[in-house]
Amino acid sequence: MAVLQIKDNVFSVGVIDWDRRLFDELIPLPHGTSYNSYLIKGSEKTALIDTVYTPKLEELVLNLKEKLQIERLDYIVANHAEPDHSGSLPAILQMYPEARVLTNAKCKELLQAHLQILDDKFITVDNSTEISLGNRTLKFMISPWVHWPDTMFTHLPEDKILFTCDFMGSHMATSDLYSVNEGAVYEAAKRYYAEIMMPFRPQVKKYTEQVKNMALNGEIDLIAPSHGPLHNRPAFIIDAYTDWASDTPKPEVVIPYVTMYESTGKMVNHLVDKLMEKGIKVTPFNLIETDLGELAVALVDAAVIVLGTSMVLAGPHPVAVYAAAITNALKPKAKYLSVIGSYGWATQLGEKMDEPIKALMPALRAEMLSPVFVKGLPGEEAFKKLDNLANEIYSKLI
Ligand code: FEO
Repeated sequence: MAVLQIKDNVFSVGVIDWDRRLFDELIPLPHGTSYNSYLIKGSEKTALIDTVYTPKLEELVLNLKEKLQIERLDYIVANHAEPDHSGSLPAILQMYPEARVLTNAKCKELLQAHLQILDDKFITVDNSTEISLGNRTLKFMISPWVHWPDTMFTHLPEDKILFTCDFMGSHMATSDLYSVNEGAVYEAAKRYYAEIMMPFRPQVKKYTEQVKNMALNGEIDLIAPSHGPLHNRPAFIIDAYTDWASDTPKPEVVIPYVTMYESTGKMVNHLVDKLMEKGIKVTPFNLIETDLGELAVALVDAAVIVLGTSMVLAGPHPVAVYAAAITNALKPKAKYLSVIGSYGWATQLGEKMDEPIKALMPALRAEMLSPVFVKGLPGEEAFKKLDNLANEIYSKLI
């Protein structure tokens, strides 16, 4: 990735990963990603904010050593210990043995566990620490649980930049340094929020408020995350985060489902039609075809989740079980939950498929609406029950 100047003597030196298509062996990356790293040259000292994913070390080294000709690095700020940002830290410390790692106590512990960095390489910081680079200062905001317990933000007050690492970032490979295409960045940032930040909504709300106050007080005019474009209009991402993390869901229904012989599919289609006729926004996700990230995005706003499942052996289809486990982990703010589906032969268990699904979702504090199950193909009686479920959903939402 090119070295790009952000402000006088502040550079973007990270790497774009155009080709990566999966993160954590779980999260699809339809638009690639980037590992942003920033170099700050003060009048006396030089600091690097975060490093990059280990396979991209060579590009970071090229940016520092050849393009910017950095011979001495005094500090490396580690805002977060996850290896997509810290993986290259040991190699950079070897290249610049005089450098000290600035990080909080929790992040230090995790960096030592993951990368076996020696104790004397660290300077531990907290909210009151100020590190002078000469004509510039580094300040720190310890901000745990967005999304690890170690996370923090770094503030460069003279330049009004807040380096937020994962927070307010997006998995997006683009040559745009800034969020110039706000529509595209909004979609990517919402997906990132859904996949990474949503389980930590109380913390997200708290830090979004803090960042908002900093922007309103004129302390920052640039938010520089460690994935995706930088936000030179902070209100754009602050407003988006405020909306996504709010407690109030929107009157929307999400139906993740799996169907083996189309019976559950017919039930889903019927329910979708009935909800549409009532003017309710509804999105079905065929779990065999869908991108999990798109489902996660839909869960950000939805008030109702209806899980559709066929039966395999004596319980819900394993794909539905997987979706329930993922949904539980993401902790969406949905207020209502239901389960519908078709079973083949095990009537007693088939009529209770909601119970194992509900047991998989203890983190959802959702009210259970009437489940609907049918043996084999849905007929008039099953469709009537689905109509009743649609009415129940309508009465809850409107
Ligand atoms: Fe981008 Fe939590 O690392």
